[in-house]
Amino acid sequence: VRIDVAFTPAEVRKSTGRRVVVVIDLLRATSTMLEALANGARGVLPVGSVEDAVRKAEEIGRDAVLLAGERECLPIPGFQLGNSPAEYVPPKVRGRTIIMTTTNGTAALLAAAGARHCYIGSLMNAGAVARRIAEHGDDALLLCSGKEGGFAAEDALCAGRILRRLRAAGARFRGNDAARVALRLAGSGPVSAEALARTAAGRRLRQVGLSADIAFCAVEDRHDLVPVLDGHRLRL
Ligand code: MLT
Repeated sequence: VRIDVAFTPAEVRKSTGRRVVVVIDLLRATSTMLEALANGARGVLPVGSVEDAVRKAEEIGRDAVLLAGERECLPIPGFQLGNSPAEYVPPKVRGRTIIMTTTNGTAALLAAAGARHCYIGSLMNAGAVARRIAEHGDDALLLCSGKEGGFAAEDALCAGRILRRLRAAGARFRGNDAARVALRLAGSGPVSAEALARTAAGRRLRQVGLSADIAFCAVEDRHDLVPVLDGHRLRL
């Protein structure tokens, strides 16, 4: 089988339809969505803009949902939740539907929405994602959300780490050049919070006082769960 990596959503030229797609936005959208669902959220609805989020909330009923997300890493005025995974504690999110818009992560998810099997990945579920890909036994694509259309090192590190975990579990696969580069970049050990802190996204988070989020997102295998995009809703 082939397991390719795309460093940016724009590289997804081939149809995602037949492949298993795993969307990665390590800092922080897919880490936060995973944390929300692990803590009992009913579902996460990724949307492209603040306006779409508000429209969707009105459609479903403002009291039935939580509005969440960020712009420039900061909470969106009037929304109940930002994009820090530690905010998504069970008392806040259990049983709730979360409408979420972020700069890069939700856009990548919307780009992948046509795939038959679309999951979200981060370091926090790297082992579970590797296992899920191996169980499918089909071609797969690790789709990095990147940063404003460009490369983001933390997503590439995460993709490389998932490929390492697959290799360690005995999976045999071929991949594109991006997959080979991601494997080299990740090296053989876990990805450290220090390495993440040195990326552009990591530096931005430190600048706005959100260093704790980097450490949170660096914890490999925090959850043994792989959220799936079911229509327009992410769920466990
Ligand atoms: C994104 O979707 O662009 C990121 O999750 C940004 C962030 O860290 O808030």
